[in-house]
Amino acid sequence: MKFYVKTHNDIYAQIDLLYDKNEIVRRNIMSFQSPKGVFDILPCGTSNLWQLTKYWKYVEDSIHQIATDYGLKELRTPIFEQYELFVRGAGESSDLVVKKEMYTFTDKANRQMALRPEGTASLLRAFIENKLYSISTTPYKYYYIGPMFRYDRPQAGRYRQHHQFGVEVLGITAPEQDVEVIDLIFELYRRLGLKNCVVHINTVGDLQSRTNYKNALKSYLKPYFDKLSDDSKIRFDKNPLRILDSKDEGDRLILQNVPTIDSFLTPEAKNHFKKVLSLLDLFKIPYEIDAKLVRGLDYYNHTVFEIVSTLASAQSSLCGGGRYDGMVKDLGGPDLAGVGFASGLERVIQTMIDQNISIPEVSPPFIYFIPLDEKAREIAFDLATQFRHRKISCDINLQLKKLDKALKIADSLMSSFTLIIGEEELKKAVIQVKDMKKRESCFIPQKEILNYMQTLFSKNSFGN
Ligand code: HAM
Repeated sequence: MKFYVKTHNDIYAQIDLLYDKNEIVRRNIMSFQSPKGVFDILPCGTSNLWQLTKYWKYVEDSIHQIATDYGLKELRTPIFEQYELFVRGAGESSDLVVKKEMYTFTDKANRQMALRPEGTASLLRAFIENKLYSISTTPYKYYYIGPMFRYDRPQAGRYRQHHQFGVEVLGITAPEQDVEVIDLIFELYRRLGLKNCVVHINTVGDLQSRTNYKNALKSYLKPYFDKLSDDSKIRFDKNPLRILDSKDEGDRLILQNVPTIDSFLTPEAKNHFKKVLSLLDLFKIPYEIDAKLVRGLDYYNHTVFEIVSTLASAQSSLCGGGRYDGMVKDLGGPDLAGVGFASGLERVIQTMIDQNISIPEVSPPFIYFIPLDEKAREIAFDLATQFRHRKISCDINLQLKKLDKALKIADSLMSSFTLIIGEEELKKAVIQVKDMKKRESCFIPQKEILNYMQTLFSKNSFGN
């Protein structure tokens, strides 16, 4: 059955154009603003705490640490690739294709490109193109952090540019591998202090199980075909499994009595899932079986999962993933199994904030220099550079000449020591060292200042 459907995204595009036109008329000035659905990550100056750099750095540092603990290697891919890669990767019935969620463009040589909407297809393309399978041995375990782009209606927790931490493990069919990746992301959430996380899990079986199930599903849905949503009508032929996770109210009513996959699983598929669940029990990872969970991309087989936090206020799905045996081969590589997940960093950080999770403050500078005239600035700038080369964090006031204002800045930066060079200090060739915690000052000869501060810094680093 063939359909032409004006997708939601065609409509969003028209709304966006109207919005931009109105903004230009309303403002009547040439000014720039970020496009709809994207955002800045800032060191300060935003009431949206999740946009503060300190959270991003903390979460990203935790990711690099856990990746090391689980033996993963980092892989970085470009943010745009051939459009066709993502169509082949995500599948014809995925939201990315059906709902036209991809940001596409034609380059100067008339090739169709897309900003990457997800990381799995790109990572596999890089793995295959660079023949990583011939350089190292199984298991091939990789992770990535980076921006992804999806043209969707922006709302809380859903953006047009979002960031993912993803993990892909290739070459291992054992169910333990599914549990290893689930445990990894669950442990990351634990380390970040997230509460009330639950794994929603299902199996979509092997090819034989799915063929049996798809036939049963189509027989069940056929009498309701005319009542299905437009997206589900498209999926009826392409991949009826995807109708199961439709958010459309009408579809959900039709699906109330739909047969579930468990009675169509082959013994192998059943055993795989049983083993996964028994290991989750062993590691005390809370889970709920969700028979309608099939996930938004077509490439999954066997285990599929999402992790939700029951306290999250906006979009509750923090992470999604599953097994995708056969995909490496489909993209032109060797016949290797695969399993992985990706977690949206915006949602993770927003949930941390919802749950009042505090993080360590970013280290303030150890030294803040206040030179009060031209000559003092020359000396201070030279010393500041030398401190930095000794890995002692140091900032310098190159602009203000008023001591009281500069001291306020030193306070706001929370520097440990402020070094002041004014007229008097220059005359005596000394530097005033102000301990900002004790609120005490002393005068140290210029020639001794490097060693003096170095000693204080070493004591401070060892907590003395
Ligand atoms: P996904 O479920 O499409 O899976 O996305 C993974 C996660 O990215 C979601 O759980 C969510 O946290 C976040 N996310 C997705 N779209 C948005 C958005 N528009 N705004 C904010 N956050 C979003 C994948 O992308 C698969 N590649 C995962 C995977 C890896 N499966 C196997 N390996």
